[in-house]
Amino acid sequence: MSENLYINHSLSKEEKYKALIPQLISLVEGEENMIANVANIVAALKFSFDYYFWVGVYFKIGNDLVLGPFQGPVACTRMTIPNGVCGQAADKKVTIIVPDVNAFPGHIACSTDSKSEIVSPVFTKRGKNGGNVIGVLDVDSDTLNSFDESDKLYLEQVCSILSQLTDKN
Ligand code: SME
Repeated sequence: MSENLYINHSLSKEEKYKALIPQLISLVEGEENMIANVANIVAALKFSFDYYFWVGVYFKIGNDLVLGPFQGPVACTRMTIPNGVCGQAADKKVTIIVPDVNAFPGHIACSTDSKSEIVSPVFTKRGKNGGNVIGVLDVDSDTLNSFDESDKLYLEQVCSILSQLTDKN
């Protein structure tokens, strides 16, 4: 277990993600408590990227998504699938990039400062697209067009790490 994080803030976004992913794996090694590990992962993400305004995990409980560990302003505690970007990502089992949240039909505004967003599903360990969704990883930015295919690529890798942490698999 290594509860340290080394991120060079002068790196590019892709370089930061590449430096971060192995550190996230080390960060959760040796600790079995899921909440502790998810809390540290979202903290590491928030610390690493200046354009992250809010980052957190919602857990699927029944047909709802319930707020888990997060970093940023207080947020909606519960949303129902398939409502909002989170609900759509959980329902369709795909990552959704929203360049402008105000142009997304049904977007749920937890904060009016949120302008763009990316949400990736977290699957059961054996999951991927055929598996069950156990939650979503939601990242918001306070500027438009903050997320692209490289965020999708690496945040889906973060979701794979998250899927290993739950005891629901
Ligand atoms: N905007 C999200 C709601 C969650 S918050 O942004 C933290 C949505 O529409 O799913």
